[in-house]
Amino acid sequence: MWYLKLMIIYFAILQSRTVAESNATRYAILNNDWGSTSFIPILMGLDAGIEILGVASSTCDTWQKQAAYHALAVLEIGNLSCIPVVYGATYPLVNTISRLQTWEAFSGPLVFQGVFAPYNATAEALGADPTSGSDPNRIEKAAFVEGFPNTTALQGQVAAQFMVEQVRKYPGQVSIYAAGGLTNVALAVRLDDEFASLAKELVIMGGYVDVNILQATGSLAQSAIYSDINLKVDPEAAKIALTADFPEIVVVGNVASTVLTSQEFLDELYEVKNPYTELLHEYFGTTYAFWDETAMGLLVDPTLATSTSTVYVDVDLSYSSPTWGNLHVYQQVLAPPNLRNVTYVNAIDVERFMSMMKHAVQYPQNCGTL
Ligand SMILES: *[C@@H]1O[C@H](CO)[C@@H](O)[C@H](O)[C@H]1NC(C)=O
Ligand SMILES: *[C@@H]1O[C@H](CO)[C@@H](O)[C@H](O)[C@H]1NC(C)=O
Ligand SMILES: *[C@@H]1O[C@H](CO)[C@@H](O)[C@H](O)[C@H]1NC(C)=O
Ligand SMILES: *[C@@H]1O[C@H](CO)[C@@H](O)[C@H](O)[C@H]1NC(C)=O
Ligand SMILES: *[C@@H]1O[C@H](CO)[C@@H](O)[C@H](O)[C@H]1NC(C)=O
Repeated sequence: MWYLKLMIIYFAILQSRTVAESNATRYAILNNDWGSTSFIPILMGLDAGIEILGVASSTCDTWQKQAAYHALAVLEIGNLSCIPVVYGATYPLVNTISRLQTWEAFSGPLVFQGVFAPYNATAEALGADPTSGSDPNRIEKAAFVEGFPNTTALQGQVAAQFMVEQVRKYPGQVSIYAAGGLTNVALAVRLDDEFASLAKELVIMGGYVDVNILQATGSLAQSAIYSDINLKVDPEAAKIALTADFPEIVVVGNVASTVLTSQEFLDELYEVKNPYTELLHEYFGTTYAFWDETAMGLLVDPTLATSTSTVYVDVDLSYSSPTWGNLHVYQQVLAPPNLRNVTYVNAIDVERFMSMMKHAVQYPQNCGTL
């Protein structure tokens, strides 16, 4: 009966491993180009019991400093200032406004240029987050409909260094979330060649595939969405991040645009009144999809995905290409060298996702309950 004893020992070990893994704390660092109403991913992570080690700001729709101030403000209104905010890199690795404009001259205009949209003093005075201009560190107060922050970001730290330190502190446990440009992630990858392998995973919003026909036949707004600014704002960083040896990479691209907002849903959220539901009700609008939120939903609970594909990915770095800065996917046997596979999410359980968001926003955690 020795083999029975062995089997019992084996299963006991298996079970203890499962238990240890199942209650190991999950950590995350959330990178984004934060705005007045983009706090849902933070609340979703907290609601799921994930410890958010830090919120990092990313240059993408606006400059990272303004994004960091938004992060500070939206944390403050919910008594969440115990979560540190860390500044990211101000500029993309290579890309610049003139580089983008030159590319547009031979590839056609981008409807949405993110932070590289021409400087517009009138728009900024009326509450738009800053774009272009001579000072990327300017703060435009009019944009802070959530309130201007009374707290400050970590001093003497930058996002890439912060991410490296935290991942080394909790090896195998830290999820890196990136829903803006990938500059900070790329810098962390290059700063420490073990960073990616020591993280738990990278989950990104962005990386649309097969959308060219939609850009040609859809509205200008649709074309804007599919230009994929999260990758395009810093193509080189996107390539570094998506070819690094994270144990897992999850790409939330096309699927994110299928989860639409509606006035009905915003009204439903507002049935419970708190600073977050109020801001969403007032300012989220129904023009856009729950892009960043969908990516966070999949970080929180990968079983939300109802269809995924494993594909090898590359980012087009050919400056002369009309798909410069866009994702290209391959099957394994056809992939060129030095690429890796990722989980590309095709569909999610929308109903379950909406109720996750609803709970996180209506009953937000705060520094007293964490
Ligand atoms: C996980 O939880 C169980 C039951 O509460 C406990 O006995 C065990 O020590 C915990 N393991 C870890 C790694 O925290
Ligand atoms: C910061 O404090 C001022 C004055 O009390 C307040 O009006 C503002 O709303 C606060 N900011 C945030 C983000 O809560
Ligand atoms: C600048 O912003 C204002 C206000 O949003 C807008 O009316 C105007 O058309 C913009 N100017 C340019 C050149 O885009
Ligand atoms: C993805 O790549 C990893 C590492 O090379 C490999 O272990 C894994 O089997 C691949 N996954 C799929 C589904 O092909
Ligand atoms: C805010 O968080 C602090 C802990 O940082 C806690 O002591 C306090 O009770 C919380 N306040 C509210 C209104 O929840």
